Amino acid sequence: MSEPLSVAVVGFGVMGRHHANVYAALPGVDLVAVVEPDAIRRSAAAELYGCATFADLEGLLAAGRMDAASVASPTSTHHALTSRLLSSGIHVLVEKPVATQVSEARGLAALSRRHGVVMQVGHITRFYKAVQQLRREVRRPYLIEARRLTPTARIRDVGVILDLMIHDIDIVLGLVDSPVADVSVAGHALNGTPFEDVAAAQITFANGCIARFLASRVAPDAERSLVVAEAERTYRLDFGPPRDLRGQPAAQGTRALPGADPALGGADRYARGRPALADPRDRSDPAAAASCPTAAGGPRGLSHVARGALAGVR
Ligand SMILES: NC(=O)c1ccc[n+]([C@@H]2O[C@H](COP(=O)([O-])OP(=O)(O)OC[C@H]3O[C@@H](n4cnc5c(N)ncnc54)[C@H](O)[C@@H]3O)[C@@H](O)[C@H]2O)c1
Repeated sequence: MSEPLSVAVVGFGVMGRHHANVYAALPGVDLVAVVEPDAIRRSAAAELYGCATFADLEGLLAAGRMDAASVASPTSTHHALTSRLLSSGIHVLVEKPVATQVSEARGLAALSRRHGVVMQVGHITRFYKAVQQLRREVRRPYLIEARRLTPTARIRDVGVILDLMIHDIDIVLGLVDSPVADVSVAGHALNGTPFEDVAAAQITFANGCIARFLASRVAPDAERSLVVAEAERTYRLDFGPPRDLRGQPAAQGTRALPGADPALGGADRYARGRPALADPRDRSDPAAAASCPTAAGGPRGLSHVARGALAGVR
């Protein structure tokens, strides 16, 4: 029998606990250590898993070898911690977003190739069964609308685009088989940090498909939904509680799919078969017309922070 894979978790907050729980339960895996600057969380990890704990990554690296590590620390620390691990020959599962700058993300990918180790980014929503089913069924969408709203502004070191909208951008880029032609975005920073708390963005693809995104962490209610319109039918995916976009009980024909991650938002719902929406290329449709940028060009809008966050989409 082969040796178990030895794994460490770096950052033992909300997501780090999920990573640690899974590693502790996986056959063939040894959770050997947790790195966490907060002493109370370190004690909790030691008690829960009986593993070694360290206040910083250097302590872990000095103490011995491991095969792989999860990085689940605040986003602003991902680049430094992941670089250090990859350069030490350790495979890394780094939580999304991989870094705060596109250049840093590319640098990490290059580093993983140079050292012959795997770097995987924790885009967990990509693996929801409903999302995978969408990827199998969707052929040529012409309009996509993604809403990801929450009242909780817990994460303060990046804006809502890198924190929340990134999930929808990742899903949409996996659904539309066409290069990005245009990006526009506007946002507002409302919580006293330089980072946007609400953002509205639009990606127009070369094949004409329009994807509209709304993300907020200052919303009165939580909502996570994705609507994908094709000529033949419209798909609706509700990541949240079982209600449809108008807050009514889910429409007949909606079915819950297995594979939802309760920790990340409960039911993973999916519906299809509704009549197609209006053609977005028809400027007489106000909703479609409002969504159409007037000219091709780079990201534009009110918030330079938001613009920067979308810079990697092209
Ligand atoms: N995949 C998903 O769906 C998903 C969901 C939520 C959060 N995330 C991502 O996971 C990351 C962590 O988010 P969270 O909600 O768990 O945050 P959190 O604040 O709950 O946890 C972060 C932990 O990292 C610790 N930490 C800080 N600096 C550190 C360092 N230098 N080394 C090691 N640990 C350090 C903090 O003390 C804290 O315990 C973020 O990048 C976030 O975007 C991903």
